[in-house]
Amino acid sequence: MARDPKYDILFEPIQLGPKTMKNRFYQIPHCNGFGSEKPLSQAYFRAMKAEGGYGACCTEYCSISPESDDTHRVSARLWDDDDIKNLSVMCEMLHEHGALAAAELWYGGPHAPCMESRCVPRGPSQIPSDFEYLTYPKEMDKDDIRQVQQLYVDAAKRAREAGFDIVYVYGSHAYLPQQFLTPYYNKRTDEYGGSFENRARFWRETIEQVREAVGDDTAIAVRMSTDMFMGESGTQLERDCLPFVELVDDIVDVWDINVSGISEWGEDATPSRFYPSGRMLPWQEAVKKISKKPVLGVGRFTNPDLMIEAINEGKLDIIATCRPSISDPWLPRKIDEGRLDDIRECIGCNICISRWEIGGPPLICTQNATAGEEYRRGWHPEKFDPAENADNDVLVVGAGPAGMECAMILGKRGMRRVHLVEADDDMGGIMRWIPQLPGLGEWARLVNYRKIQIDKLRNVEFVPGTTLDANGVKEYGAEIVVIATGAYWATDGLNGCTHDTIPGADAAQPWCLTPEQIMRDGKEVPGDKVARNAGTGPESRTAAAWPGPANSVAEKRSRPYAPEAIAAGMQIIKKQKAHPLKMRLCLLKQRLSGS
Ligand SMILES: Cc1cc2nc3c(=O)[nH]c(=O)nc-3n(C[C@H](O)[C@H](O)[C@H](O)COP(=O)(O)O)c2cc1C
Ligand code: SF4
Repeated sequence: MARDPKYDILFEPIQLGPKTMKNRFYQIPHCNGFGSEKPLSQAYFRAMKAEGGYGACCTEYCSISPESDDTHRVSARLWDDDDIKNLSVMCEMLHEHGALAAAELWYGGPHAPCMESRCVPRGPSQIPSDFEYLTYPKEMDKDDIRQVQQLYVDAAKRAREAGFDIVYVYGSHAYLPQQFLTPYYNKRTDEYGGSFENRARFWRETIEQVREAVGDDTAIAVRMSTDMFMGESGTQLERDCLPFVELVDDIVDVWDINVSGISEWGEDATPSRFYPSGRMLPWQEAVKKISKKPVLGVGRFTNPDLMIEAINEGKLDIIATCRPSISDPWLPRKIDEGRLDDIRECIGCNICISRWEIGGPPLICTQNATAGEEYRRGWHPEKFDPAENADNDVLVVGAGPAGMECAMILGKRGMRRVHLVEADDDMGGIMRWIPQLPGLGEWARLVNYRKIQIDKLRNVEFVPGTTLDANGVKEYGAEIVVIATGAYWATDGLNGCTHDTIPGADAAQPWCLTPEQIMRDGKEVPGDKVARNAGTGPESRTAAAWPGPANSVAEKRSRPYAPEAIAAGMQIIKKQKAHPLKMRLCLLKQRLSGS
């Protein structure tokens, strides 16, 4: 199908300083857990988005020096020549698809825990991080300022050498340049603190130096948070950001505008439960009004109508996406091909970012199971190899999200016949009622996307209103059976502290309730005292000790993984561990030399 002409604007090229971006789709900096040390995973992950039509793709935050080391989390790095080699694979693969490559140069100041490097980061003032535990910077003197600016310059040169087309001087999320701009972090009394001009000096000088270092063939991007929601002490749009745009507009090639500081950065990657798409448009529009340079911005953009509205109304030039690009790396291509019903829209659940917060392991996504497995397992979200045993029939029991995903993928892999059998009258399982809870309407996308795909597959049949017991499954006649009957809350108080049930707990009683009983079935909550058993320990003990019938005892019990699945996972982890950096560089050399 052809694209709807109303979306043409999204596919117009745009100039970013010396570089031309082929359309208006930009994959914003975001982590994936690969950094520079898993260069092929990094490259394949980003390239999937370029293959899916993105005009530019960026690294995650990319450390410029061991002084800015985010270990235990995983960031990209441009510390030395090996990092150049590793990240050059990403650039090369992006270029093969006609996309620009961007690197987000990052110096964290107090927010860099430096657990691997053991360095002490430098900052505008000696104030500990409001985000990390026990991390603090050394207050910079003038020599320190020159040295740290040189770190930016050196990293920018490395980025250029690796093949990046765009380098950021990244301030947003309260990192070093923005710490200088922000009174909350900057308590200096010299020419780098106090007045706006002084607080802006470090960032302005750094941008100037980076621009000079990379010459006239690399674009300079600045990511700025235009509101930290901290009142007077945080960065503010009118007082700090708009004057800063006016101050450096002539040396910046593209502005990347968002909101939030570091502690409240859920204000940036906002869950759908609390904010609609496009919620940062007022701030982005304010910058767009005064800048002569292109402005790009995020806002969980999945709907092409909202995208064109933002551009046509002069609020943005470029649609930047993080989570929508994880959930569907082929978003631009599907809009281009008029396949809007195939878009796998991000549901705003924030499982992706929650996982980064616990330490930056490889990314996962609720909507896109292939995310992060493009290289290691060779998974593709849109292309499917025929299964080797495709001449078999499959019975999938249970049409909740897992059963639907399973039937859909098996259908796409060409199994002879797939029957998706469900006791209820429709697909969706738990996701039929959860989206009805306040703020969770967008989670219904999980079911809608799969339903549409399943409807299109001739080899997949949905069989509603059918309950199968073991004999029924056996008699059904399929060669392959998949059980996907889901998870449920325990009714007996089983808990994570004692690993045991709670004596007397029984959700058949009126005083004992599971979340499903309350939220789905409308079971009345009696009495005026509630003991909550959320499963980690103390709550369970409270519940056990609580006398009488006012207890609410609930524990989520999910199906354990099959031992085979654990064993398969271990094999894959071993495979990756057996490929340390040197091995990956060998692969890289082979790839570069075409051998
Ligand atoms: C998994 C994840 C990792 C992120 N990592 C970074 C990062 O490395 N650098 C950065 O500037 N922002 C990062 N962000 C913030 C995003 O760039 C973006 O501002 C935010 O997700 C809102 O955009 P969206 O609504 O399109 O998701 C990250 C967000 C997510 C969800
Ligand atoms: S669907 Fe959830 S996990 Fe996937 S990108 Fe969106 S917010 Fe992240």
